[in-house]
Amino acid sequence: MAFMATFLNLIIMFSVVPIGKSLSINYYEKTCHDLEFIVLKAVKDATSKDKTVPAALLRMHFHDCFVRGCDASVLLNSKGNNKAEKDGPPNISLHAFYVIDNAKKALEAKCPGVVSCADILALAARDAVYLSGGPKWDVPKGRKDGRTSKASETRQLPAPTFNISQLQKSFSQRALSVQDLVALSGGHTLGFSHCSSFRNRIQNFNATHPVDPSLNPSFAAKLKSTCLLKNKAKNAGATMDPSSTSFDNTYYKLILQQKGLFSSDQALLDNPNTKRLVSKFAASQEAFYKAFAKSMIKMSSINGGQEVRKDCRKIN
Ligand code: HEM
Ligand SMILES: *[C@@H]1O[C@H](CO)[C@@H](O)[C@H](O)[C@H]1NC(C)=O
Ligand SMILES: *[C@@H]1O[C@H](CO)[C@@H](O)[C@H](O)[C@H]1NC(C)=O
Ligand SMILES: *[C@@H]1O[C@H](CO)[C@@H](O)[C@H](O)[C@H]1NC(C)=O
Repeated sequence: MAFMATFLNLIIMFSVVPIGKSLSINYYEKTCHDLEFIVLKAVKDATSKDKTVPAALLRMHFHDCFVRGCDASVLLNSKGNNKAEKDGPPNISLHAFYVIDNAKKALEAKCPGVVSCADILALAARDAVYLSGGPKWDVPKGRKDGRTSKASETRQLPAPTFNISQLQKSFSQRALSVQDLVALSGGHTLGFSHCSSFRNRIQNFNATHPVDPSLNPSFAAKLKSTCLLKNKAKNAGATMDPSSTSFDNTYYKLILQQKGLFSSDQALLDNPNTKRLVSKFAASQEAFYKAFAKSMIKMSSINGGQEVRKDCRKIN
């Protein structure tokens, strides 16, 4: 596998930042020794067949952590009258839930009832980044799975139309800093966006400007052609970092060229602190990797549930 060879020289191990709460790196050492190997294998197998899997897993973990903490609430299926998060409004691209199911199945065979779905998802997101050529970090474990998932609560997620103060507020409500905001937004080096997520910028932007003036004009024309002219299909859209599928710092370079896809990406230039960090990460992939790993550990530690699910799609 060609991509295996390329990512192997890119592996960087980062020292562990201090973590709070009850999470620990060695949480399953005695109870499920092969956990990390099993999850990595599930992610690798799926990625080898479908290159959209890493982006999907990374975004799934972000959505999980931002609603009710990292408690695998995003994995629960709707049941009866209850519509679950995964069927909530911004559900257009959450997919690859089967990868978590496959890992869970293998784990239940080896160490039944031990590993939480929330921990599996946190590990899978880490592996997704690493398999895409990004940094690798140790994931603290010991999360519990929640028993509630409500579609209406996906409204708590930040929207792509958010300005810088709305983004800062959304992150600070979860004890995440401005540095976490800029570093984690770098996750947009992976994956795909539907036109609906950036249409506000290219169609009827406001009364004086039909197109968002903070967009590079030729880039805006390209997006218009993709979304407004050629293709009205529901699945039309753009890759977030068209230059490569690898986890790199190109996202920040694009923002400096006014080619960030969402208002929320471009807004990172609207505050002196976030702007400074965008420039820093654009100049140094090393600095980005280090900051990303640190912020992922922080985001991944937002507290959640109370049980270890047997089936990631259902409460016990
Ligand atoms: C800062 C606030 C954020 C906003 C407003 C935001 C918004 C979005 C939107 C609108 C999409 C496209 C959905 C679609 O049209 O299909 C998207 C995709 C994505 N986001 Fe974010 N996001 C944010 C933060 C993050 C974070 C923190 C991560 C992970 C660290 C992340 C990872 C991703 C990935 C990987 C995709 C591509 C998904 C795929 O291709 O399946 N995002 N995001
Ligand atoms: C997204 O949500 C809609 C409305 O609730 C639902 O009908 C649809 O099945 C969901 N799509 C996915 C992929 O979950
Ligand atoms: C951001 O948007 C909010 C809500 O629309 C608005 O109240 C605020 O003034 C805006 N902030 C900036 C810096 O544009
Ligand atoms: C439209 O947006 C631009 C750029 O943000 C701004 O300068 C202009 O004042 C806005 N016009 C209206 C009518 O809001």
